[in-house]
Amino acid sequence: MSDETTDGVGGFEHLLSEVARNVPTQSPYASVTSIDRAGVVDLSFGLPAPSLLPIEGLSSAMTTVIETDAEEALQYGGGRYADLLPNIVHEHLANRGIDVDDLEITNGSSHALDGVCRTFIEPGDSVAVGIPTFTGVLQVFGNHGADIVPVPVDEDGLDVAALERLIDEREYAGKPVPKLVFVIPNFQNPTGATLSVSRRQRLLSLAQRVGCLVVEDDVYGDLRYEGETPPTLTGIDENDRSLHIGSFSKTVAPGVSTGWIAGPEGLVSRIRPMLSPGTPLLTRSILAAYSEDGQLERRLTLVRESYRARRDRMLRALDRHLPPEASWIRPSGGFFVWIQLPDAIDTTPLLERAVENGVVYLPGAMFHPDDSPRSTLRLSFSYVDRQDIDHGVAALGETIRLALDTDA
Ligand SMILES: Cc1ncc(COP(=O)(O)O)c(C=O)c1O
Repeated sequence: MSDETTDGVGGFEHLLSEVARNVPTQSPYASVTSIDRAGVVDLSFGLPAPSLLPIEGLSSAMTTVIETDAEEALQYGGGRYADLLPNIVHEHLANRGIDVDDLEITNGSSHALDGVCRTFIEPGDSVAVGIPTFTGVLQVFGNHGADIVPVPVDEDGLDVAALERLIDEREYAGKPVPKLVFVIPNFQNPTGATLSVSRRQRLLSLAQRVGCLVVEDDVYGDLRYEGETPPTLTGIDENDRSLHIGSFSKTVAPGVSTGWIAGPEGLVSRIRPMLSPGTPLLTRSILAAYSEDGQLERRLTLVRESYRARRDRMLRALDRHLPPEASWIRPSGGFFVWIQLPDAIDTTPLLERAVENGVVYLPGAMFHPDDSPRSTLRLSFSYVDRQDIDHGVAALGETIRLALDTDA
């Protein structure tokens, strides 16, 4: 039925905003979430390992909050534990060498990005985004009617030289420079690539030259398993051109849905009043009580060790089971390995056969704004245990070999 026939006096289609009218109502993940996972190794979503969720720690933090500060913690305002959280995040960032003027606690990283869009983006404004990228980011920008300018990502992260060329071409054609450049600098979702230090510097110089802002979403920054930690963009930015977004979703638990936005005072103070309301103060109090006395840093050491072992297991299994036609970037941290297959293989229809063989992954098309066929796929090593990683990768190897044989 068309909008015209459904939309009468009682209908509402004509009331929708233009942006909402263009936002799909179905989840972009629907084709994957609907898969029956019985007997199938789940290498699809970037979920923390269930065995690493801090159930006892959060439970005892909750008891502490309720027993010592209930009347404040359950009230508007939140009380002393909720008030502590910004200091805890400040200290955590300082431990990583990030000295920020100002920060605001948010309901996770996506909420922080939504706040940035509310502050800077009008429908039709362009934003430069490293593609492929996390589907949730495409959704947030889509909800603000942003025009996504795709920038390639390679093994050194966002291709800043390509971005520079794109901006020059746009300026030459009389088109506006993107207002924002969105980058996932460490262990990018989905490629696992890390932005090189020289590209970080070049990106900041470019932002200063053309007058745009850089938004770094660093949700995986605490999960480095080897090598030197490069400076964050916000940490080396001398011109107040960048914002740093982070989250406890990957390091503590997605259910706490708490993160932050940090950067120069003048920028954060513009975003703060634009954040959508709904502050879960009790959760923030529990997280603060949990993170006190160095417990957060101790936890980070523990989760890093466990995810490093999972990553190593997956890389070994890939070497063993994938045919030579497949290639991948070796991630130094994060949750993901990005697999490139020969162009003739479309990983979207291939998923059905992979599931029959016993593994589920995310097809590469999900990480592109245009959803067109791709020969890439993302594996997550964070969620399943090590033995299952072996089984899942073996099933993937078999699926790819069959596809190559059929194609030959
Ligand atoms: C790059 C990136 N940003 C943000 C998020 C979501 O973070 P949050 O749960 O804090 O909104 C994810 C989770 O998958 C992600 O990969």
